[in-house]
Amino acid sequence: MLQFGLFGAGRIGRMHARNLAANPRVRLVSIYDVAAAAASAAAAECAAAAVDSAQAILGDSSIDAVFIASATDTHCDLIEQSVRAGKAVLCEKPIHLDLNRVNACREAVAGSGVPIQIGFNRRFDPSHLALQRAVRAGKIGTLEKLILTSRDPAPPGLDYLSVSGGLFRDMAIHDFDLARFVFGEEFVEVAAMGSVLVDARIGAIGDVDTAMITMKTASGALCCINCSRRCAYGYDQRVEAFGAQGMLVSTNPTPAHVERWSGSATAARPPLHHFFIERYADSYVAEVDAFVEAVEQGRQPSPAFEDGRRALILAEAAGESAKTGRAVSVSG
Ligand SMILES: NC(=O)c1ccc[n+]([C@@H]2O[C@H](COP(=O)([O-])OP(=O)(O)OC[C@H]3O[C@@H](n4cnc5c(N)ncnc54)[C@H](O)[C@@H]3O)[C@@H](O)[C@H]2O)c1
Repeated sequence: MLQFGLFGAGRIGRMHARNLAANPRVRLVSIYDVAAAAASAAAAECAAAAVDSAQAILGDSSIDAVFIASATDTHCDLIEQSVRAGKAVLCEKPIHLDLNRVNACREAVAGSGVPIQIGFNRRFDPSHLALQRAVRAGKIGTLEKLILTSRDPAPPGLDYLSVSGGLFRDMAIHDFDLARFVFGEEFVEVAAMGSVLVDARIGAIGDVDTAMITMKTASGALCCINCSRRCAYGYDQRVEAFGAQGMLVSTNPTPAHVERWSGSATAARPPLHHFFIERYADSYVAEVDAFVEAVEQGRQPSPAFEDGRRALILAEAAGESAKTGRAVSVSG
């Protein structure tokens, strides 16, 4: 049974704590958060220990693996320290907001052999995964276009947004990864436009709340990602793959599968899931299972550190394109 330490017990860390505690293949040993009350609350709920330093996890020889779910700017430091301590790492996305820091971290952990997985949970969503497998199995012939719709129900608070790194690196990072996952081919060119259509205060901090991103692979296939920080009908997450022999669509699941037909509407369905914790619940559980399996089998897990780095390269290119109005070429 893999013994875990958890860094960060905020919005997503608390959910991961519950998932780890409920997973029969692992044991959540201890939780550290700089906000001691957050660690204590999660620990009490999950029958784990709240500890008062990162070292208490890193130096605990009973702990095999760490889940890094703390604030983004702590990820690289904690990855490096965990790898030095010989702990397998499952780290939330993004690895960091600064590509130079990610590159330095890559060098620091190179050759360690310690398993590192990045928390691109959407790869484990049953519908998105089935679409990816069908694409790879050639069910729609050669993939020509991929269209990702990614709309949040409402923008996060300005406190969060002002340190988030911007829409391309904070929000669209999942979509960049999902696009790479479905294609299995790298993108070589990125063009993006962003607008402030939801909240002028988001523009005032130099960010955008609405964006369209177009990317091209070396073989000429195209991907379009459309992101909004506000969506009147809930959390809208759809993937459409179009190929020479057909189309695959991963649509929005609803909490219940009942359609209502009436004189004013046909096939009206219940509202969408509110946000990511509900919509992607299965995927957060599955990513831990995949990590545990890889660590137990002594192989590197996937998505790997390099997937996190590649997604950030695309995010930076999109940000640059939106700023300059020019398409940006991308290489390794
Ligand atoms: N995969 C996903 O779907 C998903 C969704 C939301 C957030 N995230 C990512 O998860 C991370 C956390 O996001 P969140 O929404 O939970 O943020 P949050 O602000 O709610 O929580 C972050 C927590 O980290 C703690 N923290 C800060 N520095 C720390 C340190 N050095 N050691 C231990 N704890 C520390 C904070 O006190 C806070 O409790 C971010 O990197 C974010 O991008 C991923």
